[in-house]
Amino acid sequence: MTTTKPAFLNFRVDHMTLLLQPALYNVAYVLFKTVLGVGPDELLYDKRKEWVPGEGEQSMTYAVRLGHGADDPKLTNTIIAVVQPSEPAGQPSHVRTMLDSHEAAAHWQHIALRTPDLLAFHQHALERGVNFITPILKDDDENLIQVFSGEWFFPGTKPSGVFFEFLQRDPSDQTVARLNDQNRKWFRDETFLGLYVEKEREYQSGAVRPFIDDALFKQLHERVGGKKIWEIDDAALASAEALMMEYAKSQR
Ligand SMILES: [Fe+2]
Repeated sequence: MTTTKPAFLNFRVDHMTLLLQPALYNVAYVLFKTVLGVGPDELLYDKRKEWVPGEGEQSMTYAVRLGHGADDPKLTNTIIAVVQPSEPAGQPSHVRTMLDSHEAAAHWQHIALRTPDLLAFHQHALERGVNFITPILKDDDENLIQVFSGEWFFPGTKPSGVFFEFLQRDPSDQTVARLNDQNRKWFRDETFLGLYVEKEREYQSGAVRPFIDDALFKQLHERVGGKKIWEIDDAALASAEALMMEYAKSQR
């Protein structure tokens, strides 16, 4: 049986973001080039920052394209974005914290899922109690709009460093105008507060937003935590969804 669902829930993987400890970062670059065949035109970007004046630029992140489809290369890319903790040793870094707290050299941080209608998906998710750490942002360099979810962890545990990005490429002028309207407060002082800055703020404050509130998690866990996956039937799903919508409404 085929299920019908709204087009905005038809996601494609846009890219995946991998955190690497500095000792692996440059070696990985070589491995992408030599083993995975990343060509000269497939380094999509390479972002740098001089943290300490006079000490020179550090590489913060680069993205590589590992392949693309034939018919619509722009929307069928296989992309990995790589991030290292580039801050000086004495300076806090949420990327370092995410890696160190997993005792990991590498950590898959987020998968970016592309939807044809980000505004519709965003509304759908908000109505079900999903937390986002930013409003919908317009990427300065690329023609896309994006939003970042809270992390997947549960009450009483450390944040996992795992979350989702949801994005839409080539949004219409109308969509962008609607966002500018909604985001007026966020963009006060003309400051672009992107994912990196917001994540750093969360990790330094110790208050990392979960994907859904602890209270909602507990309610859902009470209902389905004791079941086997195959026992979570349509009726259970419908009542869980109703609970989420009720919860979200009460928080508004
Ligand atoms: Fe991303």
